[in-house]
Amino acid sequence: MKILMVGGGGREHALVWKLLKSPKVGEIHCAPGNGGIGRVARNVPLAATDIEGITAYAVRERMDWVFVAPDDPLALGLTDALEAAGVRAFGPGRDAARIEGSKVFAKELMKKYGIPTADWAVFDDPAAARDCVRAWGAPVVVKADGLALGKGVMVCATLREAEAAIDAIMIERRFGNAGQRVVIEECLTGPEVSALCFTDGKTVVPMVSSQDHKRALDGDMGMNTGGMGAIAPSPRYSPELAGYVEEHILKPTIAAMAREGCPFRGVLYVGLMLTEKGPRVLEYNARLGDPETQAMLPLLETDLVDIIEAIREERLADCKIEWSAKSAVTVVMASGGYPGSYRRGLPITGIEAAQSLPGVTVFHAGTAWDGERFLTAGGRVLGVTALAGTLADAIDRAYEGVARIDFADAHYRTDIGRR
Ligand code: AMP
Ligand code: GLY
Repeated sequence: MKILMVGGGGREHALVWKLLKSPKVGEIHCAPGNGGIGRVARNVPLAATDIEGITAYAVRERMDWVFVAPDDPLALGLTDALEAAGVRAFGPGRDAARIEGSKVFAKELMKKYGIPTADWAVFDDPAAARDCVRAWGAPVVVKADGLALGKGVMVCATLREAEAAIDAIMIERRFGNAGQRVVIEECLTGPEVSALCFTDGKTVVPMVSSQDHKRALDGDMGMNTGGMGAIAPSPRYSPELAGYVEEHILKPTIAAMAREGCPFRGVLYVGLMLTEKGPRVLEYNARLGDPETQAMLPLLETDLVDIIEAIREERLADCKIEWSAKSAVTVVMASGGYPGSYRRGLPITGIEAAQSLPGVTVFHAGTAWDGERFLTAGGRVLGVTALAGTLADAIDRAYEGVARIDFADAHYRTDIGRR
């Protein structure tokens, strides 16, 4: 079987690594891939958002499957384009991907179907949005409606910050057309956990829980990033909580999407806040998370090809999906300065030494291969994943791996999983 992976980060490296373990997989190509992916698969110089280019490539190369991992190509309808061209694609279609691509769509869905979330209001007029935050008071959350590289959400401690956020989104258009509408939300507090599931549009199979670490610095300080580390499972996610979330959030969401005429097939990611009043949905993603995937997939014992085939054929109910009882930790090593500006092209050493530790796998994100060595090529450079019997051992093992890797200006959090 020939598979084309779309994307080029740590999540996609973990997916390629997992798919290569399947006896059914012969060859993997990846658009655009990265330095590490290129050592085990064929990198294809096409952007993940090049819908026409990727579709044409998949047809020409007779791909058996295309796995669409990132949010942008899903929102742009890559899955629909591939299927229309006769290529099997994993990932929701454009209509279903709106659950991530439009916060207004997601909030309206939750309201209509009674799915627990923060109170909210939507505005296409900045003056009305400002009146709303003045009436509600601070703290308050201001969100751009559309996709904004994970940066369109501003948790505002003061009214002045909230008004500045509305101006940045709606008037300065910092996130372009994503800021045509703004969602004002009640500010919730509590620990966060990610609940993901596989779904064929009818059956929901929860995945192992996980927890991202979004802030750049230890102690959840500093700027929001794409994610500086992850653990799986989350020790906060008890079996009771998992049962509640499955019945009151995951299943109702998938049933709602089917009833709205846009059945969701693929992986649904639900970002939850565990408030005193119970779990509340903060966001939906129409895909796997990064870096959660790098912690979750090594715990998946079932062949991923069997799962994606069962989803496409709508027979997920018959597919037995098994997870290891171990714990996994992923520590992201980033370029100094990330998420701001940083240097590129710095040589990386010690990846093999890290991987020689038992249970340690290094997933590449922003790396390039110059024919002899790996160089840094992005903000998040590597994710060092360790598996162990307990979370504490997995944390220690992951940081042993991190200590063996070196590149100039490397930055990583030292408290992943410790809070
Ligand atoms: P999102 O991109 O929607 O996941 O939001 C990014 C982060 O903003 C979340 O992980 C939360 O930490 C925070 N956030 C989003 N919505 C709320 C809310 N209603 N109350 C408090 N924090 C929130
Ligand atoms: N780690 C959060 C995300 O992938 O959206």
